[in-house]
Amino acid sequence: MPLPPPPQHLHLRASGTSVVLELADGSLPVVRHWGTDLGELSTDDLSALTTAGRVAFFDSPFDVADAVPVLPEHARAWIGRPGVEGSRAGRHWSPVFRTTGPALASTTPDGTQRVVVRAADVAAYLEIELEIELHPGGLLRLRSTLTSTGGEDYVVGAVRHTLPVPEQADELLDFTGRHTYERIPQRQPFPAGVHSREVRTGRTGLDAVHLLCAGEPGFEARHGQVWAVHLGWSGNQQTYAERLHNGARLLGSGEALEHGEVRLSPGQSCTTPWMYAAHGTGLDEVTARFHAWLRSRPHAPTRPRPVTLNTWEAVYFGQSLERLTELADLGAEVGAERFVLDDGWFDGRRDDTTSLGDWTVSPDVWPDGLGPLIDHVHGLGMEFGLWVEPEMVSQDSDLARAHPEWLFAAGGRRGLDSRQQQVLDLGHPDAYAHVRDQLLDLLRTHEIAYLKWDHNRYLNDAGHAPGGEAGVRAHTLAAYRLMDELVAAQPGLEIESCAGGGGRVDLGVMERCVRVWASDCIDPLERQQIQRWTMALLPPGWVGTHVGSPRAHTTGRRHDLSFRAGTAIWGHLGIEWDLTSASPEEREELASWVAFHKAHRALLHEGVVVNGDHHDEAVRVHGVVSPDRDRALYSVAAVARPHTTGPGRVRLPGLDPARRYRVGVPSPGATPVLEGRGVVPWTREGLVLPGVVLTEVGLPMLPLLPEHSHLISAEETR
Ligand code: GLA
Repeated sequence: MPLPPPPQHLHLRASGTSVVLELADGSLPVVRHWGTDLGELSTDDLSALTTAGRVAFFDSPFDVADAVPVLPEHARAWIGRPGVEGSRAGRHWSPVFRTTGPALASTTPDGTQRVVVRAADVAAYLEIELEIELHPGGLLRLRSTLTSTGGEDYVVGAVRHTLPVPEQADELLDFTGRHTYERIPQRQPFPAGVHSREVRTGRTGLDAVHLLCAGEPGFEARHGQVWAVHLGWSGNQQTYAERLHNGARLLGSGEALEHGEVRLSPGQSCTTPWMYAAHGTGLDEVTARFHAWLRSRPHAPTRPRPVTLNTWEAVYFGQSLERLTELADLGAEVGAERFVLDDGWFDGRRDDTTSLGDWTVSPDVWPDGLGPLIDHVHGLGMEFGLWVEPEMVSQDSDLARAHPEWLFAAGGRRGLDSRQQQVLDLGHPDAYAHVRDQLLDLLRTHEIAYLKWDHNRYLNDAGHAPGGEAGVRAHTLAAYRLMDELVAAQPGLEIESCAGGGGRVDLGVMERCVRVWASDCIDPLERQQIQRWTMALLPPGWVGTHVGSPRAHTTGRRHDLSFRAGTAIWGHLGIEWDLTSASPEEREELASWVAFHKAHRALLHEGVVVNGDHHDEAVRVHGVVSPDRDRALYSVAAVARPHTTGPGRVRLPGLDPARRYRVGVPSPGATPVLEGRGVVPWTREGLVLPGVVLTEVGLPMLPLLPEHSHLISAEETR
């Protein structure tokens, strides 16, 4: 028997990451290495790398597969979760794909290395096209398109991708959360079996996995190798870590399909969401790859992010022209550049029991329409934005009364209300067209630069009427299409993704949105954590961060303005506070924080995000360093009482060790300090130190009151 041809390899390299793909004997690619850049490797080196990775447990042809394929197949001795699940009435459930031509490797104009592999299982009437891309910033992404070529309908159960991580990646980090408390990190040793995080609520989730990371035990922001994956999808999904008895470890993800949700007739295809993956030494390097990716996208904002005034916590449903023009006046006075009218502007909507779906301006509250308010806002030099929740419908609405068949309903019954609302099934073309036309009409008749796009009810039990078939996938794709259509119709329109706060934060929706509302909680203490981890995925300019009122509405805690503003300036700054209740002194202090944000906005939004691995958990250190490392700004926040009198020495990550920096403590507002306690001489006049000293030795910090923060600036001096 002739020997099979030797395996071919592709070695993709970018920004310190290597991906070695083995393309052996007609099978789908196997990742032999994903991690640290291995440098130039010859063909022989690559073959040897593959040989070195081969393990034989028994001298038998039926060994357990010794490497992790990107789409694992049972038929090739994979004993864990398969990549493709599905069947034709019970048949063809275990496909085995053979490539139908050579892998096509190319480089796109932006420098992305791209590999396309086509394969088929002729006996199962299935074809697959697999796309693998390595972005110049080192972000890897994969997706597949599965096609049925014959036979009965193929009912797809799952199409998941996997990537290997090495044995030293023995600790997992992922996230959970709830309303007003998103992105709670959870860590655990990498267990044997499957650690799977599933979402079946039709949106990414307040409890989203966000990033699933596997790393060297104890990995933190600046040390320890980490491998992370994220699914770019806003519907049902599954992300998991799997460890097998042969030592294989992997991270995988895919859409979570309900039974029968994707049924492929001959000639039909389905394309998976992209699975994104990044490796780095320390989490900050992983983050930098995601940030570089988003910043390179065609729709990435190029103009400064406007300071936003949002009306929600200022007036809730108490809207009136008089009240809101006064708020707009005060917003403009403190430096706001965009005014966003939140929930409550449309017909009948005086509280949250009613009227979602009726997207016409309320004649009761706005007898002359929104025109007078919009004109007033424009007159103050601000843009106007509007809150909408296009996928939702109240049972008490003209829309629900006219078209009850457009509401999701599985099994002939309507689902339970949540926040007194139901979901409009955008899988109905007429429902889609109806809401699209209403929104287009609003955009045509008003000068609206911005939509805050909310999504408050789960899509569990989401059946497409009248038959009740599962409808989340079709709905998710339609919601994307709707956003795309609106932006195409109104170029320059910006959309913020909100879902009861940070419930729809993912790289799928971020293909069309430029901001997320990170949380309905704007208590700065909670925000320290929520923002830290939201920004592990999204750059700061894409994350909405507001200054709230002195007493946080969601927690009842009170905080000085220095901590509220000192926390909010780190993202896309906004104000969500009834400024009519603020004193002139408070407004003046707020204005100086807004001015400080604007003066440093380019650095804050375009800089490299860094996090300090501080020795005391009570102290959070984070910052941004300019891309050419000549400037940096840091926050040192006490989220509890430090164990020591002061917060101790603070090391400033990300500076160039070989350059010299002048450090100082800017304080745009009044920052209360511990009276008479501890003097730190360098904070009086600043100091010049080599970067290596600042990064490795650090600086003693002023004593900090709990739930307060200070800033540190660093500027290169020559
Ligand atoms: C959700 C959002 C809030 C606000 C309200 C309005 O809860 O997250 O920011 O817009 O809806 O009803």
